Amino acid sequence: MSEAALAVRELVAGYVPEVNILQGVGLEVHRSEIVTVLGPNGAGKSTLIKAIAGLVPVRSGSIRLFGEEIRGVAPHHMARRGLAYVPQTLNVFARLSVEENLEMGAYAKGSGNDHKRDMERMFALFPRLGERRKQASGTLSGGERQMVAVARALMANPKVLMLDEPSAGLSPKLVGILFGKVREVRELGVTILLVEQNAKAALAISDRGYVLAQGRDRVTGHARDLLGNPEVGELYLGVRRGLS
Ligand SMILES: Nc1ncnc2c1ncn2[C@@H]1O[C@H](COP(=O)(O)OP(=O)(O)OP(=O)(O)O)[C@@H](O)[C@H]1O
Ligand SMILES: [Mg+2]
Repeated sequence: MSEAALAVRELVAGYVPEVNILQGVGLEVHRSEIVTVLGPNGAGKSTLIKAIAGLVPVRSGSIRLFGEEIRGVAPHHMARRGLAYVPQTLNVFARLSVEENLEMGAYAKGSGNDHKRDMERMFALFPRLGERRKQASGTLSGGERQMVAVARALMANPKVLMLDEPSAGLSPKLVGILFGKVREVRELGVTILLVEQNAKAALAISDRGYVLAQGRDRVTGHARDLLGNPEVGELYLGVRRGLS
């Protein structure tokens, strides 16, 4: 058996000294899997994804990408290691056109990329962006902007893509379209770690999931089993039934 694409062990991390937001988190994402991290507001989901991306100081634990330790690697070197991250907010350059945003994604990886060809691949995956390639990204719809953010991350040809709440603020229809695209990205061989509030939609496209609460991974399982798990309901928003 080959090693996991991403393996996090006993991760302790926080923004300010002596305040640990993550208090020992473990998770694994296997090659070409889609794994979702769920949990109530403030559970530490964004912190987890930022700590993996090198943006939050890690106090202890390990983060392995295809078996290689990446804890301590500078955020701007992560793209070269094969890891891409789409933040929860402010994830496009509003004044730049769609094309310019995608170019920024290619620069993250460094030189030697065939930007033009990669860009055409992105427009094949997201035809709406191709039609709007010269448009300022700030004038796009919410769903289109999320697609720019995902496409920009993909321009670095990542092996592992982390998405923080890509469905936030989108209509159910747009969530469906976006998550369909996430599945297509997986078909291209990209391993995906998704953080979501929208549990139902996220688990519908995921293989497995983890529920985070108060800085720890509390429950894990196959995506189809998590929704009906009463323990998850209790953790998630304090609801005593399954997720709605
Ligand atoms: N930049 C920061 N500096 C200090 N504390 C922070 C910072 N960002 C987040 N926190 C704290 O870390 C904790 C976890 O926040 P985080 O953003 O990881 O939660 P989340 O699970 O992503 O929540 P949400 O579902 O609302 O996005 C919160 O208590 C929050 O106040
Ligand atoms: Mg968050």
